Amino acid sequence: MNSLTTAPGAPSAPTARAAAPARPAADRYRPEFHFTAERNWLNDPNGLVYLNGTYHLFYQHNPFGPYWGNMSWGHAISPDLLHWEEQPVAIPCDEREAIFSGSAVFDEHNTSGFGSAGNPPLVAIYTSAYSDASPLAGRQAQSLAYSLDEGTTWTKYSGNPVLDRASADFRDPKVFWYDGGAGSYWVLVAVEAVQRQVVLYKSADLKNWEHLSTFGPANATGGVWECPDLFELPVDGNPEETRWVLIVNINPGGIAGGSAGQYFLGAFDGVEFRSGSTVTEGLQQDGSRMREYGWLDWGRDYYAAVSFSGVADGRRIMIGWMNNWDYAGSTPTGHWRSAMSLPREVSLARADGGKMVLRQTAIDPFAGQESPSFSLGPQALEPGVQELPVAAAVARMDVVFEPGTATRVGVVVRAGEAERTVISYDVADGILRLDRRESGQVDFHAAFPSVEAVAVPLRDGRLRLSVHLDRCSVEVFAQDGLATITDLVFPAEESTALAVFAEGGGAHLVALDVVGR
Ligand code: FRU
Repeated sequence: MNSLTTAPGAPSAPTARAAAPARPAADRYRPEFHFTAERNWLNDPNGLVYLNGTYHLFYQHNPFGPYWGNMSWGHAISPDLLHWEEQPVAIPCDEREAIFSGSAVFDEHNTSGFGSAGNPPLVAIYTSAYSDASPLAGRQAQSLAYSLDEGTTWTKYSGNPVLDRASADFRDPKVFWYDGGAGSYWVLVAVEAVQRQVVLYKSADLKNWEHLSTFGPANATGGVWECPDLFELPVDGNPEETRWVLIVNINPGGIAGGSAGQYFLGAFDGVEFRSGSTVTEGLQQDGSRMREYGWLDWGRDYYAAVSFSGVADGRRIMIGWMNNWDYAGSTPTGHWRSAMSLPREVSLARADGGKMVLRQTAIDPFAGQESPSFSLGPQALEPGVQELPVAAAVARMDVVFEPGTATRVGVVVRAGEAERTVISYDVADGILRLDRRESGQVDFHAAFPSVEAVAVPLRDGRLRLSVHLDRCSVEVFAQDGLATITDLVFPAEESTALAVFAEGGGAHLVALDVVGR
């Protein structure tokens, strides 16, 4: 243990531990539980659908290189959302169209006619981004592909596109089955990206679409709107009281800079979405108002987040692309580039003060593991940094603080001789921060070194953090998921030390558990 001080912004780092056996350079940062393509580029999760015991993750993929281009739908499957098996490319681009983001549904009653009553199809609804070789050059329109073998092989519909507004920025369709007061039909939400609008359509057969309504611009409008989603959730688990959640990803103009996801809470009557959480209308951005909007995540690396279709038990599970368009093309990972976030189960909860918020809980790679690798019971935390006798790069760390007289408390992760990632809580202003300015490799892009911040009130005088580490990522879930911060980090492989700290006074450590390696 060394004896560095803990000046704000540069808390002390524990010393490095014995180096683990070296991994191949290109795989040094490859996560264990976050999906990555074996080779080449990926961005948005697409076509998230659960069918017959299998989670399907399609994704924006360049099959030919670790950079954006040749956009096609890659495919991976998993029984548990944590162990993924990559499949052959599902829907490839061709000389006329790139296959941009979209969704997939199990068309159980064969409304599309692509299958039969005995073998209903999986249907993918994606954006055709037409190239110069197409008569529709420059447009983005919505198209279909279907699979009659549970997603193994796909056929593009000969009648594509099925929804064309003669727009250059109409994309990212998310389709779901609506069954409510207004009837029963498919609903499609997509964006007019540049206009900062979500457009809603309905259909009986996924092929013929009728315009329902348009939402926006509203709240954060500092970048294009992309990858929307719309779903209903009970409030505090009460099925008698529900709200509809409209997800709108935005780039740039996110709360931490660059790409991020915002959400609106409101009502959907089968035609129109009306928001109860619109803070301000119009295209003017006021930085101070931004903090009042609903954000899916307050970090730099959670984008294009959308939810699974068809999860039977009513659970709503989302995955985001764990990157940011500001620097996604420069991340130092070699022949593969970009990972997905951990999947998150989302629910609606009333936070302190009665404000309704989206609560997010990670699907936990270490759930069910008998005992933590390391635990501390209740104890005083003297001012200073206390290195833990456990080190980890792939782990979950749960910690509960009572700040006491301390002005700052927190944890240090992925620490080594010259690097650290610091998660700190400023008691006076109630702000949780993640500081990755000295997290390891940060100079591959000027926008990468950053400090993220979110207001997090103490609950019963306590701060509860759950921190997931997976080689190149730090995902922080505060106060049981009422606020989250997701950031990439690229530390040395041997920087695995962990510590807790208090500054300005003594704090009380209620509990600490580390599980992982
Ligand atoms: C979001 C996005 C989508 C688009 C896709 C293209 O990251 O820009 O709007 O469909 O990526 O790869």
